[in-house]
Amino acid sequence: MNNDSPTRYDSISRLFHWLMALLIIWQLLKIGDRIADGEHWIGQTLVPWHISIGTLLLLLIVLRTCWKISRGNQIPQPDPATAFLVKTGHFLLYATMFLMPITGILVMVGGGYGLNAFGMQLIAKGEEVSWAASLGSLHSPIAWLLLVLVLGHIAIALFHHFVKRDDTLQRML
Ligand code: HEM
Ligand code: HEM
Repeated sequence: MNNDSPTRYDSISRLFHWLMALLIIWQLLKIGDRIADGEHWIGQTLVPWHISIGTLLLLLIVLRTCWKISRGNQIPQPDPATAFLVKTGHFLLYATMFLMPITGILVMVGGGYGLNAFGMQLIAKGEEVSWAASLGSLHSPIAWLLLVLVLGHIAIALFHHFVKRDDTLQRML
């Protein structure tokens, strides 16, 4: 790590990280619909919030990106030896965090269902839109990519903490 960079993420970055991590893991539980057609506790209590939470995540990722850009170098910088891999991994996480809600909304618009989040009708129901439905079909493959990235990301964080015993996890806590 550069000697002049902070050793810890600021409180707003940590709040965005852990709040969004929780909400994204909640969203990924939608994969559970593949088991018994969602006729189980997760499918009936957590998954019905999918569209509302997904729409909230779109707002959060925009705010988080603005915050990250505004902080510039005032966040911990990666070790130069692995900086390229770390930056690529974090960039892919950001890209998928943006693409998930966008493609999700395209599924809804494409099917003519409109968009209702937390009881607010944000987009009215209407005709089917074929181009939106086509792009929306990427929602599921990108969800699987995000799942792989998140699992890899968690494994690397735990590797740093328990095997390398450095401060990588500490700076996000
Ligand atoms: C970060 C945000 C989101 C994540 C992580 C996420 C994740 C997922 C996952 C894991 C699935 C199951 C895929 C599968 O079984 O192969 C799914 C399906 C679905 N999601 Fe999302 N989603 C997000 C946002 C949204 C939003 C904002 C909407 C709608 C406005 C939406 C609508 C849907 C619909 C309709 C399905 C079922 C159709 C399909 O599989 O393509 N999602 N999502
Ligand atoms: C859905 C789950 C998660 C997502 C999408 C995610 C995403 C990210 C992103 C994009 C960063 C880069 C910093 C930033 O720009 O905010 C980051 C940093 C970090 N995350 Fe996560 N994260 C998730 C879950 C977790 C979990 C469960 C852990 C702990 C086991 C963790 C540990 C860390 C650590 C230690 C850093 C700092 C890494 C560094 O400074 O090099 N993350 N995370």
